Amino acid sequence: MTDALGRVRSALVLGGGSEIALATLDRLATRGLRRAVLLGRRPEVMREGARGLAAKGVEVIVLPFDAEAIDTHAPDIAHTFATHGDFDLVILAFGVLGDQETFEADPTAAGHAAIANYAGAVSSGLAAAAALRAQGQGTLVVMSSVAGQRPRRDNYVYGSTKAGLDAFARGLGEALRGSGARVMVVRPGFVRTQMTAGMKPRMLAQSADQVAASIVAGLDGGASVVWAPSPLRWMFLVLNALPQAIFRKLKA
Ligand SMILES: NC(=O)c1ccc[n+]([C@@H]2O[C@H](COP(=O)([O-])OP(=O)(O)OC[C@H]3O[C@@H](n4cnc5c(N)ncnc54)[C@H](OP(=O)(O)O)[C@@H]3O)[C@@H](O)[C@H]2O)c1
Repeated sequence: MTDALGRVRSALVLGGGSEIALATLDRLATRGLRRAVLLGRRPEVMREGARGLAAKGVEVIVLPFDAEAIDTHAPDIAHTFATHGDFDLVILAFGVLGDQETFEADPTAAGHAAIANYAGAVSSGLAAAAALRAQGQGTLVVMSSVAGQRPRRDNYVYGSTKAGLDAFARGLGEALRGSGARVMVVRPGFVRTQMTAGMKPRMLAQSADQVAASIVAGLDGGASVVWAPSPLRWMFLVLNALPQAIFRKLKA
């Protein structure tokens, strides 16, 4: 349960090696986080990533989870809540960026990314939401992306999965209204993490910690959508209104 000040005491991360998720937990560790359960494919990487949390006195538990294994999500997440819950915060952080050229040459790889980013998020998101609803409290943070706002030539496979995820998460937020649980959708722009290593940073690029600060501020303020950084909200208001021929030239 959140404490008397509404601070997060316990968190579950789906995609527990995510640099943005770990940076968020790191910030929460300085203000009351006591237990973090990390679910992901690579236990050693998650343990290594969570060393700073453990050093701050957070109990860290690492468990296996594959976003593509959609049949396992409902039973595994229910079991995780039954064994390690309650959770004040669930971060749906897993995601595959991939490479557009590779996806066009290998449609099967594109399909796998779509399963992880969208189908896996639907099955695990619904399972987590059911558990939060049963608790009567807690926030599901869903890592969307500005890539889902308007499809671009150079990453439309990834962008389309985030567009679907974003719509799903906003709908789920509506479904949870009145339950005590809620959804917060996070739309970062370019973030310098292992996901974007070697890529040329786009405009308004941020660090994982800067995005984490926006997430924590959003949690504090009860936001339903967080843009990171916030000017992206206004930038995409304009970009979404542009004719395709102009948008194409901008390479935004
Ligand atoms: N970095 C950016 O520029 C950016 C911008 C907007 C939105 N986002 C979104 O923010 C979220 C976090 O990204 P990040 O920057 O923190 O990147 P990250 O550090 O690469 O985290 C992504 C995580 O997803 C996990 N993952 C991928 N496929 C999985 C699967 N099938 N099953 C379980 N876990 C899987 C990865 O685990 P493995 O180690 O096993 O691969 C990794 O831990 C993602 O949803 C991403 O799409 C990122």
